[in-house]
Amino acid sequence: MKTEEIVKRQTKYIVPGTVKGRYPVAIVEAKGAVIKDVEGKEYIDCHGGYAAVNVGHCHPRVVKALQEQAAKVWHVSWDFYLLPTTQLAERLAEICPGGLRRVFFASSGAEAVENAVKFAKKYVYTRQGRGGSQVISLMGSFHGRTAYAMALTGQEKYKVGLSTYVHPGVVHVPPPYCYRCFFKLTYPDCDLYCAKYLEQVFKFKTAGGDVAAFISEPIMGEGGIIVPPEGYLKEAVEIVREHEALYIADEIQTGFGRTGKIFGVEWYGVEPEIMTLAKGIASGVPLAAVTVTEEIAEVLTPIDHCSTYGGNALACAAAVANIDVLLEERLTEKALRMGEKIMRGLEDLAEKYPLVGEVRGKGLMIGVELVKDRESKKPAAEEAERIRLEAMKRGLLINTGGVFGCVLRFQPPLLITEEQVERALEILDDSFRVVTP
Ligand SMILES: Cc1ncc(COP(=O)(O)O)c(C=O)c1O
Repeated sequence: MKTEEIVKRQTKYIVPGTVKGRYPVAIVEAKGAVIKDVEGKEYIDCHGGYAAVNVGHCHPRVVKALQEQAAKVWHVSWDFYLLPTTQLAERLAEICPGGLRRVFFASSGAEAVENAVKFAKKYVYTRQGRGGSQVISLMGSFHGRTAYAMALTGQEKYKVGLSTYVHPGVVHVPPPYCYRCFFKLTYPDCDLYCAKYLEQVFKFKTAGGDVAAFISEPIMGEGGIIVPPEGYLKEAVEIVREHEALYIADEIQTGFGRTGKIFGVEWYGVEPEIMTLAKGIASGVPLAAVTVTEEIAEVLTPIDHCSTYGGNALACAAAVANIDVLLEERLTEKALRMGEKIMRGLEDLAEKYPLVGEVRGKGLMIGVELVKDRESKKPAAEEAERIRLEAMKRGLLINTGGVFGCVLRFQPPLLITEEQVERALEILDDSFRVVTP
């Protein structure tokens, strides 16, 4: 079978909005950080399946766990107990920061976010006697595409034509986006004004005085790999807690070693009350989770939360093996080493090509923001797409993103090798040369 045929058939039957169809690559096999298409062409995968495949494609230990579990039991329901689900809950309690010792399982990131908000609201209702009608979120953030998750998402493009569907209970505040500071300030002289701005939300009651939680991605992914300055998160969370609201860390993209720590919040010395997990929890097997403190778990009743497939045996067995690989193969250290190598290579490209406005990231969550010129910082979205296409032709898969669509995103499996990184950088250099001769 040829790529063309698969593309034609898929495009005919799948809802158009879900088929980006940007690049005609029909994938039949993937191993580690290499993907093979139907014609046998190989690609280095720096896209990572939207940054999900943290331990690499088809890791033998995860494959074995899936095969063994598939022959035993897949799914029963929450009316019964399952060993893999129990083992995964124990593992998460061991590795999650602070007091996050209780877990709820779901199947997708958006579902985890919906539940995280629900849990926060139930907590403030039960313990503080108020509805917690509002949640504070960051402009430029991404939290998923179901009703509340979409409302929390701070990007208009996901909400066009859906005004009656999007939940109204969200107040958006400026993000810690130093490259394009909303207040035209410079770190550290800014004294973290973007964090302090949260004070204004409480002081002027722009959320009607009823905030349940503040939610943020420790490093914003879809919004363009926006890394907050040192001290931002701590300051923001302190303000939120002073006003008796909770902090929800959306670790769906930053979790499970992606940033060089097991969780993104570990970089910033913050312990959330609620954390959402998906993607790297099972490196591509559909599974998500919300972890909460004991205090929050205590207010939840069985009616509040349940999901048919959440925590099914197959996905949990994969996740347990996935976490074992992450820890035993010390993939966080590897992510830091390979991340530094990619960042150095990208800084070299920044010296050669004025198209590069900024290189930023942590571990293997790296973004390159492209601009028409460095003075005006006008976003170079078209060039970003062209570079992505040129790289694909040469055997490198990357993603693009950012509020303005001008950020190249590098989020490969954490076990990407030095040789693969070197080859990826060469391909990128060639791709930049073609796009900016
Ligand atoms: C930070 C963050 N939250 C939530 C989501 C939504 O996850 P899902 O696509 O599994 O619903 C994503 C997906 O990209 C994400 O990056």
